[in-house]
Formats: sequence, structure tokens, C-alpha cells
Amino acid sequence: MLSLIRSVRRQFREWAHRGHAEAHRFDIDWYAIPYNRIAIVNLLLSKQVEGRYLEIGCFWNALFDAVMARHKTGVDPVRGGTHRMPSDDYFRGHTGEKFHVVFIDGLHTYEQVRRDVVNSLKALEPGGWIALHDLHPRTWIEEHVPDISIGRTWTGDVWKVAFELATTPGLDFRLFKIDHGVGVVRKLANDVQLVDRQAELGPQRFRYFCDHYGELPIVNHEAGREWILGHLNNG
Ligand SMILES: C[S@@+](CC[C@H](N)C(=O)[O-])C[C@H]1O[C@@H](n2cnc3c(N)ncnc32)[C@H](O)[C@@H]1O
Repeated sequence: MLSLIRSVRRQFREWAHRGHAEAHRFDIDWYAIPYNRIAIVNLLLSKQVEGRYLEIGCFWNALFDAVMARHKTGVDPVRGGTHRMPSDDYFRGHTGEKFHVVFIDGLHTYEQVRRDVVNSLKALEPGGWIALHDLHPRTWIEEHVPDISIGRTWTGDVWKVAFELATTPGLDFRLFKIDHGVGVVRKLANDVQLVDRQAELGPQRFRYFCDHYGELPIVNHEAGREWILGHLNNG
């Protein structure tokens, strides 16, 4: 009897969430904005003569092949890049390697991306950058974990890590409103620890992203470019 009541309550919560989420959508045409992740990564690397670049999740190398760094490492268990393995295995086996820029675009779940961020922070040169793809879902379907997008855009719940990046001391973070949401993080201190909000954020869904949207440092491409240039010009 108790389990029946619990299951009915769970179903009502699901319906309430679905009702709210379906009423909310961000009306953004990403393809109408003439900047993407490739432009950002190349700008971040533009002052590095011996640029060392790591990409987590490469697929058809659309980004990987467009990056002009001298030293490139790409990690993907399926295709693309240079190392055929999941990111966890790569970081476990390559603890000493350092990069100027890491781009995170592997498995689109909060748990995995969070681990990728923690590992990348350790693998960054002082003053290095992390960029992350797919931080801005537009609908509850794009955001849903597991993936129910049937081959269309799937951001998953990567957005949750944006709330941690925005509140971690020693990091400067912006969420660029381009190309499905590109997060850009500058590591300002040597020993930065990502704040741990897993207990709060883990169970949240698209509704939380909509309701707390104003807490994120969202910028358009112009303000974002000036922010990056400000950092690059100040060393
Ligand atoms: C969206 S695609 C990457 C696209 C690419 N970064 C670009 O911008 O063109 C995601 C890729 O992540 C890979 N992937 C999935 N799980 C992964 C993991 N644990 N570690 C690294 N890559 C992973 C998939 O095989 C897939 O090729």
C-alpha cells in the first residue's frame, strides 16, 4: 500500500514537472548566431606559440581538425582524436600532462562532465582555460537524461556544472550564448577545487535551469570576446 502511494506521488511529481517544463522553452536559433565553439577555442589559443590542446569527445573531428594548436590530443572511445578510450581512462593514465586549453564535449551527463572538469583543472597550465559544450538546453527534451532526443540536439544535464563553475573561488567563468551554450573558464589560482553542489544539483531537472537562469554569468559573443581579450591582454 505504502509503495503504491509513493508511486502515485512520484507520478504526480513527474506530471507537474512535465507541465512546467513543457511551458518553458528558450526560443534560440543557434545557427543564426555567427560564432561557434571553434572560434572560441582558436581565440583562447591565439597567444600560445607552442599551444597544447586537449579535446574530450571528438566524434567526426569537426572541432579537432579546426584547431590550430601545435600539440593536439583528442580522446574518444568511438571515433576521432588521437586516443581511443573514455576520458576517465585517459586522465588515469596521463597524470603529468599539461594543457593550455581543454575542451570538454564527451558524455553529456552531469556526473561525467563534473569528473572531466575536476581532472582538467589538474591538467591545466597556470592561467589555462577550459571550454565546455552544450551548457544551454532549450527544452526539457534536449535536457532529458537519458537521451530521448532521437538523434536531435541532446545537451543532457551538463548545465548543472555551470552553477558550480559560477560559484567556485579561483575561477572566472562565462557562459557564451552561442552554439548550444559554450562555457569558458579561466583558472586564476594554482590549486582550485570545484565547489561541490552535487547533493543540491544532482536531482534537479530542466525546471531548475529555467528558474535559476539569472544566476548564471551569461554573455553574448561580443561581451564574451571582450572578456577573453581582457584576460589575454593582461597575461
Ligand atoms: C558531441 S560529440 C563531440 C563533438 C566534437 N567535440 C565537435 O565539437 O565536433 C561527443 C563525442 O563524445 C564521445 N564520448 C562519449 N563518452 C565519452 C567519454 N566518456 N570520454 C570521451 N569521449 C566520450 C562520443 O563517442 C562522441 O564522439
